Amino acid sequence: MISHDEHVHRQFEPRAAAYLESQVHASGPDLNAALVLLQSLPGRPGRILDLGCGAGHLGFALSGAADQVIACDPAEGMLATVERAARDRGMTNVVTARARAEALPFADGHFDVVATRYSAHHWGDISAALREAMRVLAGRGYLLVVDVLGASLPLVDTHLQAMELLRDPSHVRNYAIQEWQALLDHAHFELEHFKRWPTRLEAASWVMRMRTPPESVAAIRRLQGGAPTEVQRSLAFEPDGSFTVQTGLFWARRP
Ligand SMILES: C[S@@+](CC[C@H](N)C(=O)[O-])C[C@H]1O[C@@H](n2cnc3c(N)ncnc32)[C@H](O)[C@@H]1O
Repeated sequence: MISHDEHVHRQFEPRAAAYLESQVHASGPDLNAALVLLQSLPGRPGRILDLGCGAGHLGFALSGAADQVIACDPAEGMLATVERAARDRGMTNVVTARARAEALPFADGHFDVVATRYSAHHWGDISAALREAMRVLAGRGYLLVVDVLGASLPLVDTHLQAMELLRDPSHVRNYAIQEWQALLDHAHFELEHFKRWPTRLEAASWVMRMRTPPESVAAIRRLQGGAPTEVQRSLAFEPDGSFTVQTGLFWARRP
């Protein structure tokens, strides 16, 4: 038996190179949208926290628009990759910190913006993480969340979450829009802006990134093959197992 944190450790500690190279992570309209939101602020942010930074793509995209980016992740392998990639790109204002979102080693009010991308669906306690984000934000600071959305229709959602869990045992939940709204509301964030895009997940690289064992890949394919037409249409299943999810961007403010 292993804990959720141990699952996260096993899944991510050795995967930094795959995440640095992953096209889904290295690109996407959300990176530019996040930058535009940041640049629309009346003043240049001082410190930005990139929470669950992985190989660092969000922090890198935002680094030119802030004084400093603190890229934070529980996986040391990810942080070492961020440091190397930042050096290679000549980014001198990106530093790293090892931490889980649920217990941040930063003083109250330390950041102007807390940002997180494709990480929240792994957090074991999302309410604690949002409380921490609120605590480390200064004044009327901003929270930026980008993540795969759960489906609003339970029939579709159950299939999506099952595929995700088979692919990666550190998956907790893709929250649907309504769930995010409730979570943000409960944590006292004021939602100012929301946007979403379709994101195609190419089957072979999706399972390769996580080194999903062949028996789990086969179970995912069986699940897809047996899924009702409503699910097949909604997730746009393709013959090779690729499918399309929705990515959501939430821009919320400390009251
Ligand atoms: C898909 S990767 C991140 C992708 C990255 N943010 C990007 O934009 O390319 C998910 C990351 O979340 C991290 N993570 C998992 N659980 C976490 C937690 N409780 N707190 C913070 N980060 C966590 C993992 O270690 C992993 O590096």
